[in-house]
Amino acid sequence: MSRYTVVITGASGSVYGLRLIEQLLIGDNEVAACFTDAGRDVCAYETGFDLPETEAAKAISRFLEIPAEAHKLRCISPSDLFDPIASGSHRVDGMVACPASMGFISKIANGLASDLPSRAADVALKERTPLVVVPRETPLSLVHLRNLTALAEAGAIVLPAMPGFYQRPRTLDDSVNFVVGKILDSLGIDHDLFSRWGE
Ligand SMILES: Cc1cc2nc3c(=O)[nH]c(=O)nc-3n(C[C@H](O)[C@H](O)[C@H](O)COP(=O)(O)O)c2cc1C
Repeated sequence: MSRYTVVITGASGSVYGLRLIEQLLIGDNEVAACFTDAGRDVCAYETGFDLPETEAAKAISRFLEIPAEAHKLRCISPSDLFDPIASGSHRVDGMVACPASMGFISKIANGLASDLPSRAADVALKERTPLVVVPRETPLSLVHLRNLTALAEAGAIVLPAMPGFYQRPRTLDDSVNFVVGKILDSLGIDHDLFSRWGE
């Protein structure tokens, strides 16, 4: 079993982050999920899933229709700097910020570890743990592009939420699966979320 951290920030597209958590759990991975405050608000607005203050992991499992007892999901407050994912001594196989707001990208590109999500990303960069950031914004300013370049230079995988159309998606779900499948690919995790070109 592998262990992943998933951060959902206040960019549009929390559905991607929720699908990612679902797929990691179905694959029998351990998941530490953390929503920023804006991430929780935007998620509620866009998906109808309102993260509760207590028993948050159970609520996520219920929303994803995954039996809570069968999977290893933790949901951590963004202010909990005492959580293991804040430490480089904690072993983790990868971290994904999905969706990643431009505010979050700016923080981590500049080493500003002011809450648990940004501290965990800072740790991933210094420990050389795979870090995937899934930015969602358009158009991109030069400031955004410079911050994304800095992250790529520091070793992060920049994987924009840009669904392809050569798979001929028929539903929104197909497009969500395409992006989430690309995230899983970047972590070396098998999936069947989309069919591969030429196969
Ligand atoms: C409905 C809604 C959609 C948003 N979409 C985006 C977006 O796609 N990209 C982005 O960078 N910020 C977006 N924002 C703004 C962020 O939520 C805001 O900058 C917030 O401070 C980010 O905080 P966080 O990085 O701590 O989650 C959106 C805000 C709202 C209310």
